[in-house]
Amino acid sequence: MPSFREEFDLDPDLIYLNSGSISIPPRAVMDAVARITRETHRNPTAALFGTWSRLWRIQTLLAEFLGTHPRNLFLRNNVTGAMNAFLLGSRAPQFKRGGEVLMSELEYGAVANIARYRAEHEGMSVRVFSLPCSGAELEGLTPRGLVDRIVGELKPETRVLLLSHVMTANGLTLPLRELARETRARGVLLIIDGAHAPGAIALDFSKLEDVDFYGGNLHKWMMCAEGTGFGWVPDRHREALEPVEAGWTTFATPLAFEGFGGGDRACTRMLLSSSQSFAAWFAIEDGLKFWERLGFEGILAHRRMLRLAFERAFDTASALEKLSPEEGELRGPLITYRLPDARAAEGYRLMQRLLRDEKLQIVTNMIRDRFCLRISPALHNTVAEMERAAEILVRVLR
Ligand SMILES: Cc1ncc(COP(=O)(O)O)c(C=O)c1O
Repeated sequence: MPSFREEFDLDPDLIYLNSGSISIPPRAVMDAVARITRETHRNPTAALFGTWSRLWRIQTLLAEFLGTHPRNLFLRNNVTGAMNAFLLGSRAPQFKRGGEVLMSELEYGAVANIARYRAEHEGMSVRVFSLPCSGAELEGLTPRGLVDRIVGELKPETRVLLLSHVMTANGLTLPLRELARETRARGVLLIIDGAHAPGAIALDFSKLEDVDFYGGNLHKWMMCAEGTGFGWVPDRHREALEPVEAGWTTFATPLAFEGFGGGDRACTRMLLSSSQSFAAWFAIEDGLKFWERLGFEGILAHRRMLRLAFERAFDTASALEKLSPEEGELRGPLITYRLPDARAAEGYRLMQRLLRDEKLQIVTNMIRDRFCLRISPALHNTVAEMERAAEILVRVLR
């Protein structure tokens, strides 16, 4: 049984089962951030002038990994930044007074607020619909059934549909290609919050051309350093995307920035061109090398094996209702359970108690106004840890 623990600097006493919020990067990435920070600060002026061509190289490498062209990407510190850039910056005709913005009840609160903010600004209405997130609702759910259910929510006035690719609440994963075909045929703008998808499932934008916008995080399942995210925009929307932050590259490309964007103005004007630390962004290269060295399929297989080990040790013993799909196309990297009433009432205090008393980091998250238990096994975890975590949780949650 492979163990990847030696790739990470871990707290030996802690069982970390919340990579769904933010992951522990491998040592190769942590070392790269430290090395790059040291190097760039030896001559920060020269480093700043070299930044733009270096960023373009990183964007090119990331594009290769994601099956797209670098001109279709822009880098941000996180998916929240990427969703802001599109939801507030897009001049797509679907953002129009009187239309409806539709989103699911499982959207991440901050991102739902960005959509609501734009909707209010435009004089559009917002409607929220439900998605399967209980044992009974998930039973027998098929990818086609899920697509049909979402398409069935569209009304003639629906102009924009905001959905997560992988739901943060329970890991429910959308059959995105099939869904996007349906929304595009109806002229509905499909905006995807992909916070949990890169590195959790295979993501190939060459197959997702019907999606209208996609924001992703690299500091969750991709295990890159904190402060790494991106937006993906298909060619048909690039001209209508206006930067919400203006700066050096807004109206023209000054000489110092010519190393970025390959002469493509729509791409260059989305660049964040002021001074900040780009060490985490540069270290995306080291993150990608890590994936190449360990192998995409091997990483996903290891995580799957850990999920199954946890379920074997926990499901029957705890008898808690599972709120996530079973292993298969609809399942993401997270598993969520309904908590018993008394534990649900503890909310975040339960999470703090587990950390303090048991050295176990999980997260308690909300579904339909009730706290649940969410665990997200990662590459550095072992089967022994999963069994130990299950044993602790069965005892504490009783
Ligand atoms: C679905 C979803 N969207 C957006 C975010 C926000 O991520 P960030 O704070 O990295 O922008 C999260 C974070 O957990 C998330 O789960």
